[in-house]
Amino acid sequence: MKKNNVYIETYGCQMNLADTEIVLGILQNYGYAITKEIENADVVLLNTCSIRENAEQRIYGRLGNIKTAKKDNPNLVIGVLGCMAERLRKDLIDEKKMVDVVVGPDEYRRLPELIDTAFGGEKGIGVRLSRTETYDDIVPYREEGLTAWLSVMRGCDKFCTFCVVPFTRGRERSRSLQSVVNEIEQLSGRGFKEVTLLGQNVNSYLDEKNDFADLLAACAEVDRSIRIRFTTSHPQDLSDKLLFTIAEHSNICNNIHLPVQSGSNRILKLMNRTYTIEHYLNLIDKARKIIPGVSFSTDIISGFPTETYEDHVMTLDILREVKYDGAYMFKYSAREGTKAYNMQDDVPDEIKTKRLQEIIELQQQISFKINQGLMGKEETILVEGFSRKSDKFLSGRSDTNKVVIIPFDEIIKQGDYAKIKINRATHATLFGELIEKIISEEKFALTA
Ligand code: SAH
Ligand code: SF4
Ligand code: F3S
Repeated sequence: MKKNNVYIETYGCQMNLADTEIVLGILQNYGYAITKEIENADVVLLNTCSIRENAEQRIYGRLGNIKTAKKDNPNLVIGVLGCMAERLRKDLIDEKKMVDVVVGPDEYRRLPELIDTAFGGEKGIGVRLSRTETYDDIVPYREEGLTAWLSVMRGCDKFCTFCVVPFTRGRERSRSLQSVVNEIEQLSGRGFKEVTLLGQNVNSYLDEKNDFADLLAACAEVDRSIRIRFTTSHPQDLSDKLLFTIAEHSNICNNIHLPVQSGSNRILKLMNRTYTIEHYLNLIDKARKIIPGVSFSTDIISGFPTETYEDHVMTLDILREVKYDGAYMFKYSAREGTKAYNMQDDVPDEIKTKRLQEIIELQQQISFKINQGLMGKEETILVEGFSRKSDKFLSGRSDTNKVVIIPFDEIIKQGDYAKIKINRATHATLFGELIEKIISEEKFALTA
């Protein structure tokens, strides 16, 4: 019998990228073939994001296109997975009559059955959230490569007032430490060189007695030639033990994504972020003392309800004070069902845009200055392949997750570590020259 072909597109955060690999693992086990050509698909799935209104608009637009394809192939099954499935099931199925299958993040095990329901002419719906599902035992479908995403916990209990994630992903729960370690052993065997541990609040990971610091240490010990990254950390759970663990292991990257969201204590309180700016700055100071050379990145929301010009200036001040390597910056988008949705969305869109623009410009200046300061310095990079623009150059990433471009050199291949000297920098990219290749077979320490 001919295998059915499944095609999937992924939107949103890295958790969704990791979930797509779980979904493909489940479907492949059931006998599906995976296709990259939508024209060859029997099943088209969109793994979706609800974080801001424009994310959802984009997916509705895409669904419109795909529905036209259904005219040529009436048997095509169209499915929506992920956060929008959880949030908009009624709209997607009843009102817009757009899709055949709607499955939320905790019901992917039932996908084969629910797609079969759709092949049988009925709607396949699974949107229950679970307190225990972690897909611990599922082997994700991963193509060959160097870098892998690995979810170690799911859900979120923080309930920031602007955010849909606690509603679309449910309560916090962690995978077992042993299952994560086993997966990294497999990745090591396949030649992977970088693993990013994922969770909405990855540092609130807890498996019985093991906290996130224990997990990081165990992961780092599997294979010293594999770099370990992690995201996203919440300021509330950034313990001293975690900072010391990062400092102790040379293959745990010195880069912490620590969203601050706003520089104003009044706004942070309205957001239910559970920290003050003073506490946050203390954490940054402490981390810099414990982990020499640590870099930070952040998320910022501009135009949260009631945000005044003074609040906005405090956000600019915090960027100047911390000097983040980089930031993801967003305009506030009111989301139905969240607490902030009941507050008046009273900052006019033009003001949100203007403030966001100021935040972006300032951050670019700061990133540029930080990168200029790296000129003449040495960095260890993992070489990922040719640069996007030209095969006369190779592209890699530094310990602090910056893209570094070096001239092609035949002694270096993909997956090698190399010591390089920086000789030019923009706000987004570093350029350098090779000092020496680091022989990875030696399971070396990445930094001295
Ligand atoms: N769990 C992570 C990331 C959550 S989503 C954390 O706690 O930081 C990624 C980012 O999207 C958030 O950090 C926030 O800056 C932004 N975001 C979330 N909801 C938003 C909304 N309603 N409007 C605008 N930005 C939002
Ligand atoms: Fe959303 Fe806050 Fe949870 Fe992050 S910590 S996912 S912003 S509710
Ligand atoms: Fe989007 Fe869901 Fe991730 S809302 S950002 S895909 S957790």
